[in-house]
This record gives sequence, structure tokens and C-alpha cells, in this order.
Amino acid sequence: MDRKTIGTPGLEISSLGLGCWGFSDAYGKAERAESIAVIHEALNAGINFFDTADVYGAGGNEVLLGEALKGRRQHAIIATKFGFRGNEHGELEVCGRPNYVKQACDASLRRLRVEHIDLYFQHRVDKDVPIEDTAGAMAELVQAGKVRHIGLSEASAETIARAHAVHPMTAVQSEYSLVTRGIEESVLPTCRRLGIGLVAFSPLGRGLLGSQVRRKDDLAPDDYRKNLPRFDEQNLARNLALLEPLENIARTHDATPAQIALAWVLQQGGDIVPIAGTRTRKHLRENLAATKIVLTPEELAVAGQLAGQVQGERHNDRNLRFLDS
Ligand SMILES: NC(=O)c1ccc[n+]([C@@H]2O[C@H](COP(=O)([O-])OP(=O)(O)OC[C@H]3O[C@@H](n4cnc5c(N)ncnc54)[C@H](OP(=O)(O)O)[C@@H]3O)[C@@H](O)[C@H]2O)c1
Repeated sequence: MDRKTIGTPGLEISSLGLGCWGFSDAYGKAERAESIAVIHEALNAGINFFDTADVYGAGGNEVLLGEALKGRRQHAIIATKFGFRGNEHGELEVCGRPNYVKQACDASLRRLRVEHIDLYFQHRVDKDVPIEDTAGAMAELVQAGKVRHIGLSEASAETIARAHAVHPMTAVQSEYSLVTRGIEESVLPTCRRLGIGLVAFSPLGRGLLGSQVRRKDDLAPDDYRKNLPRFDEQNLARNLALLEPLENIARTHDATPAQIALAWVLQQGGDIVPIAGTRTRKHLRENLAATKIVLTPEELAVAGQLAGQVQGERHNDRNLRFLDS
């Protein structure tokens, strides 16, 4: 597995990372033993970059990752995130207050059972707290040795630049795939100008590009995508019909559409690391094989036209309000 160095000072990580959210509560039921087997096989194949968050599985995702990495900690780069927490009404809210940042970090260290976090992200920007205050608290965690690198997730270009002025941001984590290319407008150029890496989340469009979900009814009742506009019955049918050019490219490479989608992200630059999420070793192997696919400029251009045609917002109304724009 190739490595990429992101940010300044650099953090060296595998060119493909493993997103761990699906092991908890994202896209249907996950088997614990298989989840751990996926993490072990990823490590054996040279993936060293694992992405989790304190909110995934209400902390359970960090516990699972910590358990899977027991005895192999030195081979892993752990990214986790803080920022979402439950309020007194049982709803999620965003908190970026300095004291909370420090408490959240200690709690993540305990759950992961590690001495330090390699890359600590603010999951969403708290619009009520100046980013300088939150970034300042994150920088203190670096000085205290609890965290090695810091970054922001789903932040605007302006917020990224302000945070970077407080302490170097090693990476920004944003959604980036064939169906979600909004960051190309200002977030990605800002990251490139400032020497910040991009961790591309949901590189398979939350499974849309894997074509496994054919109807909304295929989704389990607790599947997160039940509430996503792109998976509404009508939008889903239209979006699946858009995948034909991708399927044609896939046939030429004796590959699957998901592999082509991942290859496309991998070819967008040496500063971009996709974190594909999967609960199975079968899909992990396919995603690993995608790192070897080289798309021609024509194929990149044809596949790249998908984003402009996809139907439905990438977030539902509730989660759109958490965005920093
Ligand atoms: N910062 C943020 O706000 C944020 C938001 C969302 C996600 N993330 C991070 O990004 C990671 C990845 O994103 P994601 O999981 O949302 O979406 P994703 O990686 O785009 O897609 C995951 C979906 O694709 C399916 N899949 C995986 N490999 C496949 C293959 N080879 N062929 C067909 N289908 C395949 C998975 O099903 P199976 O499980 O059955 O393989 C799952 O349903 C997450 O795990 C999380 O760590 C961060």
C-alpha cells in the first residue's frame, strides 16, 4: 500500500484509510467479530489510517477500534473527532468550547485505551464559539502530548484559514466523491494553498456508488440513509440510472462501479486520502484492489460528470444546519 504525507509538519498515512462508522450504527447491522476481522485485515494489507469519532455508536466505535488495535497500536494512525454531544432534550448539538474539547479528548483516550490520538478533528464547527478558541484548546492538547495533529471536519474555507493561523491544521475532513464535489470550489483550493491534506469521507457516496441499495425498502429501519434525500424512493431511482457510464468504465477494467468511484478519488491528488467505510472483508478487498486501478483522463472526465446530475441534497435538513457556511 502506497503512503501519502499530508499537512505540514507531515503525517504519513496509507493512501487509502478505513472509515469505521459502519461498525456501529450507520448503514445497517454490523457483526462485531467481522468488524474486528476487517480492521485486522486492513492492517495486514498496509492500511494504517483508521477514522472514528466519539459520537459513533455513542463511544462504542472508539472502544471497538481500541480493542481491535490492542498489541498493534504502533502500526496504526488513529483519527477521531469531538464536537457532537447530546443535549438535555436528547438531541445532538455541536460544542466547541475549550473546556469541553479537553474533556472530550480525555474521554476518547480512555475509550480507545491509547496514550495519544494521532489526528484529532473537530467534527463540526460550533458557530457560537470563535474558531480561534476551539483551535487554541486543540493546540494545547498537542502541547500536552495527548494529540499529535489536529484538523477540522466540514469547515468552510474561511474557518480553515482562521484555525490554521492559530495552529497548523494537518488535515481537513470533508465529503468528497463522484457525487459530492462542492469542496472543489473553495475548501480544497484553500487546503492546497495552506499545505493542508484532505481526508475524503464517504468516497462511495454513502454506498450510492456501490449500487447495492436498489430501493429505499432495502434499507434497515435504523439505516442512517433512510433520512437522506439522495436515498428517497424517487431520487434513488434517478440516481441509480445515472450510474450507467460508471458501470461501462467498470466493465473495461473488470472492476465494480464502487472500485471506479474510489479510484477516481484516489487520482484527484497526492494530498487526498479517501476513507472508505465497509463492514465486510469482501468489500475491503475490493477497495484495496481499487488502489491499483489507473483511470485514463477520458474516464476521469466521464465519471466526473456525475456530480452535477445527482438528485437530492447530501444531508437532510437537520444535518444541513450543522454545516459551517
Ligand atoms: N466527518 C464526517 O462528518 C463524516 C461523515 C460521514 C462519514 N465519515 C467517515 O467516513 C467514513 C466513510 O464514509 P461512509 O461510511 O459514510 O460512506 P462510504 O465509504 O462512501 O460508503 C460506505 C457504504 O458503501 C458500502 N461499500 C463499501 N465498500 C464497497 C464496495 N467495494 N462495493 C459496494 N459497496 C461498498 C458499504 O457497505 P458495506 O458495509 O456492506 O461494505 C457502506 O454501505 C465513515 O466510516 C466515517 O469514518 C465522516
